[in-house]
Amino acid sequence: MTQTKKPLLVLGVTGSIAAYKAADLTSKLVQKGIDVQVIMTESAQKLVCPQTFMTLSRNPVITSLWEMPDWQPGHIALAIRAAALLIAPATANMLAKMAHGIADDALSTYYLSHTGPVLVAPAMNPRMWQHPATVDNCKLLKKRKVQFIGPETGHVACGENGPGRLAEVSTIVDAILKGIVVRG
Ligand SMILES: Cc1cc2nc3c(=O)[nH]c(=O)nc-3n(C[C@H](O)[C@H](O)[C@H](O)COP(=O)(O)O)c2cc1C
Repeated sequence: MTQTKKPLLVLGVTGSIAAYKAADLTSKLVQKGIDVQVIMTESAQKLVCPQTFMTLSRNPVITSLWEMPDWQPGHIALAIRAAALLIAPATANMLAKMAHGIADDALSTYYLSHTGPVLVAPAMNPRMWQHPATVDNCKLLKKRKVQFIGPETGHVACGENGPGRLAEVSTIVDAILKGIVVRG
């Protein structure tokens, strides 16, 4: 039986309380026939463990810039193969690093190496989302064609109501299925 190659999606998971929803997202994407390679920030690993993503994605999870199983740095090897990069949830911190080209961990360094479509699903407290720094960072990223999925307005984990809630997993999956067809 001939096997068709699955499109490779790099999924960045950052230190938002919504990180647990990225586990469901990973499972749904894998069920849609997408090869998911997860990169977790250090903060994300304090909220959800890498083993969860390893099991659901059926791939080892990248947890550090300094994991080098090969002669070539992992972020470069991955960038050559990836169809798209999705960061979900995306913290205010990660959006700021992306806007300013800061590459001080595996995910932000990967972002600078990636040449394909980039999608982000921000998740944070409404105050953080509405802070002028975040607003300006998002404007910069949109100018560079980064696609935003959400955030939605509603209840956030800290008990407040407002914009900053992670988009529904089904909304993110739909956006990826539309985007990944282009290059996959
Ligand atoms: C329990 C907890 C929940 C957090 N949730 C969020 C969040 O939803 N969104 C956000 O932008 N930051 C959140 N933060 C703050 C980030 O974890 C912090 O800014 C961190 O530096 C982000 O690092 P990263 O972008 O490398 O993952 C939270 C912090 C804690 C302790």
